[in-house]
Amino acid sequence: MDGNGRWAKKRFLPRVAGHAQGVDRVRDIVEGCIERGIEYLTLFAFSSENWRRPQDEVTRLMELFVMALEREVTRMHRNGVCLKVVGDLGRFDTRLRELIAQGEQRTLENRRLTLTICANYGGRWDILNAVNNWRRDNPDAGEMTEEALAAYLTMPYAPEPDLFIRTGGEQRISNFLLWQLAYSELYFTDTLWPDFDAAALDLAIDSYRKRERRFGRTSEQLLER
Ligand code: FPP
Repeated sequence: MDGNGRWAKKRFLPRVAGHAQGVDRVRDIVEGCIERGIEYLTLFAFSSENWRRPQDEVTRLMELFVMALEREVTRMHRNGVCLKVVGDLGRFDTRLRELIAQGEQRTLENRRLTLTICANYGGRWDILNAVNNWRRDNPDAGEMTEEALAAYLTMPYAPEPDLFIRTGGEQRISNFLLWQLAYSELYFTDTLWPDFDAAALDLAIDSYRKRERRFGRTSEQLLER
């Protein structure tokens, strides 16, 4: 969700105003996904590297997470959203961790849309964590398999993403779901996250629909299936 800072700068506002607007877009896009029958949405809200930002911006982002959880969980629950927050949550303060646990618990049974927020997340961290936890649980096993690793990643409940969207003009994965994005279609847009509305989501979905997903096969093989 890139571009909050630039959106604010264009309006002579502090960067945090862009993040606040970004939260509003999260609500719209969650509801846009529900309307379109999308069952899984995963948002990269805060990377392991984002702690390097100015302290006041980090503090404000944490306050926004708290406010978003306090205000939005009831609405999510009413909309059938199952909330998951994944990442190295130990570094967040107690209040935030409590709200995360309560939000997850309250929405646990919902099935319409599974919304995963990646917070203090990094794709390399996820893979290393999976390897270490698997080895701890299986000290005498031989080589690890792909299935075993996938089961130990932070999102075993979700299928691998069909579509990856990055807003804000950058064309990088930036340590997002490194393992899970192996076969995903990548979509990059210059639209800044606070401007990413339902119409922008439809453009991304249209682009996805035009792609041919081969998973290593030839085009002819796909036609035969
Ligand atoms: C990147 O834009 C955005 C972030 C680091 C924060 C994303 C957070 C939100 C949208 C708000 C909270 C989200 C939830 C799910 C409650 P940037 O600051 O790097 O913008 P720039 O690329 O223009 O500098």
